[in-house]
Amino acid sequence: MKRTATIKDVAGRAGVSTATVSHAINGTRPVGSALRERVRQAVEELGYRPNQVARSLRRKGSGAIGVILIDDTNPFFSESTRGVRDAALEAGYNILVCNSEGDAERENGFVELLAERRVEGIILFNVRDSRLRETVRRRLAVPIVLVDRDGRSRRMDSVVVDHYSGGAEAVEHLLALGHRRIGVITGPANSTPSLLRFRAYVHSLQRAGLAFDERLVLRGDFQSESGYDAAQSLMSSPDPPTALFAFNDLMAFGAITALCGMGLRVPEDVSVVGYDDIQLSSFFNPPLTTVSQPKKAMGRAAFALLRERIADERMPTRSVTMSARLVVRRSTAAAAAFGRGC
Ligand code: RIB
Repeated sequence: MKRTATIKDVAGRAGVSTATVSHAINGTRPVGSALRERVRQAVEELGYRPNQVARSLRRKGSGAIGVILIDDTNPFFSESTRGVRDAALEAGYNILVCNSEGDAERENGFVELLAERRVEGIILFNVRDSRLRETVRRRLAVPIVLVDRDGRSRRMDSVVVDHYSGGAEAVEHLLALGHRRIGVITGPANSTPSLLRFRAYVHSLQRAGLAFDERLVLRGDFQSESGYDAAQSLMSSPDPPTALFAFNDLMAFGAITALCGMGLRVPEDVSVVGYDDIQLSSFFNPPLTTVSQPKKAMGRAAFALLRERIADERMPTRSVTMSARLVVRRSTAAAAAFGRGC
């Protein structure tokens, strides 16, 4: 039986080191075009992982793209990045994922790093710092696709979700269950998705003829702890809500844990809705009613836009809008007839 070619065989045939073969294939360091061609020929002659490798060697670029996200502890980002990764690998691209933790300096450091790695394009997930976008544009002059931020005003391609409709669906679900005092735990002030969900909340209350009460609104930061703290203070008020809408699942988990600690049952005493529909949501106790974002599809769409932009940088700017949809599970129920606050 024929032995499968290894990277050593390729290096031997091309007369270069294995490191050079690896850099030529993965685009991790610049490799001169003559060397690159020798590696490509050796790969072809030896049939070394032909599909993915040959594809990346045929391209002029490095065969790598960068992804910058702000929180790799939040499954929303890892699940969305999975979509990018699957599509990228299918197309023979490698991806370099950087987690900035929302820190502008780190973000800029990663931009430098990605520049050194000669990425062909960058996908920015939910990056809030506008300086970063400008930096990326100036320093790298590579295509950029924004995810979860509308890029049209900056003439950048983007993938967005209709957060207004998603937020409205969540609030209308609670209204239909008879809830009249609905507390919300928002995201950070500079988050556009959070702002759109909040707008939908206010408008849905208006449409139902309910007065807006600012005491029912607390700001979180998309982390569980902030959901925990917000739920505790909302439920400690003299006229507490009968339902909570947390603007992401992690905060909803924090809120449910706080309610449980206060001796309140979900959904019998308080209903809770989240946003994102991360995989854990269906395994939480109780399984979480939440607004589902098409995370993998967003990642795939972002990669498709990036690839097209790499191929033709003069193409008109495009923005793909995807829908969010409510998934009703067991954390919401009809408001109790004589429940607190009714
Ligand atoms: O969980 C992270 C949140 O931040 C998501 O809802 C996403 O839409 C982003 O804005």
